[in-house]
Amino acid sequence: MADIRFVTSNEHKFEEIRRMFKKRKINVLWIRARYEEPRGDANREIVLKSAHTLIKENAIDPPFFVEDSGLFIRCLGGFPGPYSSYVFRKIGCKGILRLMSNEVDRSAEFVSSIAFVADSRRIFVIEGRVHGTIPQSMRGEGWGFDPIFQPHGAGGLTFGELGKHKDRFSHRGRAVGKLISIIESLFY
Ligand code: IMP
Repeated sequence: MADIRFVTSNEHKFEEIRRMFKKRKINVLWIRARYEEPRGDANREIVLKSAHTLIKENAIDPPFFVEDSGLFIRCLGGFPGPYSSYVFRKIGCKGILRLMSNEVDRSAEFVSSIAFVADSRRIFVIEGRVHGTIPQSMRGEGWGFDPIFQPHGAGGLTFGELGKHKDRFSHRGRAVGKLISIIESLFY
């Protein structure tokens, strides 16, 4: 089957995706491209528009996919949500912890949306979600908000402490699980 292309400028995302695809023996190529991300409230709206732009520009041969993700914190009204990457660059994990210093409700959700362009006629939009909590301080390594997100069901460990086991719990792991089922049903 054809190689699947993943369009992203984020090497951490690619590394996670490569690891997940490798288990299923599907080859994924990294198209290290930055593309204009449209504004939108929902991650799924953003990925769909991005995929349409890339199709229109004829920039990348299908099959390819794009992914957009965000951290939605309940006591902050869903902030930073679709602005997660900007907010991470500006205030980081420490800034989020500061904003939440007096908050009792620590619940949050990570969402990953993927638009998979199978060919010139078919686009699939897929979503993966994980509920969790924001601890009082940073723990573990990882990237982005990994040190301040404890997914439910992982014994209170943060993504940053889970290392590669993060994939079993993560929003991206869940979205990619669905993507792999679609790829296997279309191409195998
Ligand atoms: P975007 O999908 O490129 O718009 O970026 C989303 C932002 O959310 C990233 O830059 C990270 O700051 C954060 N983020 C998304 N997924 C994860 C994750 O799995 N771990 C940590 N931070 C994440």
